[in-house]
Amino acid sequence: MKLTGVQATLLPTLYCRAVDASADKPILGDRVALATLRRIEADPDFEVDFSKVGMRPGDESAVAIRARHIDGQVADFLAAHPRATVLHIGCGLDSRAHRVDHGAEVRWIDVDYPEIVALRRRLVPEPPGDYTALGTSVTAPGWLAEVPTDRPVLVVAEGLTMYLDAGDGRLLFRGLAEYFPSGTLVFDALSTTGVKLSRRAKAIKVARAQVLWGIDSPRELESIHPSLRCAAVLNAFDLEGFVVSTTLRGRLATRVLGRIPALRQMLSIYRLEW
Ligand SMILES: C[S@@+](CC[C@H](N)C(=O)[O-])C[C@H]1O[C@@H](n2cnc3c(N)ncnc32)[C@H](O)[C@@H]1O
Repeated sequence: MKLTGVQATLLPTLYCRAVDASADKPILGDRVALATLRRIEADPDFEVDFSKVGMRPGDESAVAIRARHIDGQVADFLAAHPRATVLHIGCGLDSRAHRVDHGAEVRWIDVDYPEIVALRRRLVPEPPGDYTALGTSVTAPGWLAEVPTDRPVLVVAEGLTMYLDAGDGRLLFRGLAEYFPSGTLVFDALSTTGVKLSRRAKAIKVARAQVLWGIDSPRELESIHPSLRCAAVLNAFDLEGFVVSTTLRGRLATRVLGRIPALRQMLSIYRLEW
């Protein structure tokens, strides 16, 4: 079994969370990610050499910090809405439903392509509670009809939007705003500069993924649907402890890149509400 294209981009992020989990002082401490990685390595059916997914030592911190921040956004939402639906789209093999404490009144739905959901079932233990893994493309027409609209909804997308065609991404966001009477959407996005630079990244080249959708401003997002409002935007450099990489070179790069506005805004985390 060998993943390619956008589906293969779940490997470097899983690898980073697993490396972080095995560190002396983990940032995210995702033991499920580490167990998932070990399960893949031990399974002769998988052709994955994690040393070749394009991540270098030290890269794990950026992924862990982004995930920790988004976990915090989910926890805040659930504190305000204990009876809610979490729709985690482009979930890959991420174990967010294990990391974020959620009560019995939370309906958690992980969504990814059918073949990735089949992999999840094999590799990632089901979290306790009201949990569903839904196998569909999030750009397929009508897929939302399977999601109930009876509770406040939080849609979460980490590492997804940049791989969507801009037209498809806008349609997805419009569809969410029209389908759910109200909702919150938390996601990260690359700017157009970020898209251009990411195309040169080793992890993207190794996966043979296409990086497509760059978002440069909240206005752009609000223009997708009249009820969408950008409630928060934070760039990665503003996240507590963010470094491009923990190596000396990575720390220096963080300082330099963080001073150049176009590069500082390369990756942002948005919260849209409607
Ligand atoms: C970079 S990975 C991120 C995975 C996970 N969120 C994480 O942080 O590890 C991108 C994920 O988006 C999924 N994806 C991309 N396009 C998709 C689509 N149209 N429908 C469903 N999933 C999609 C891929 O299969 C992959 O699992």
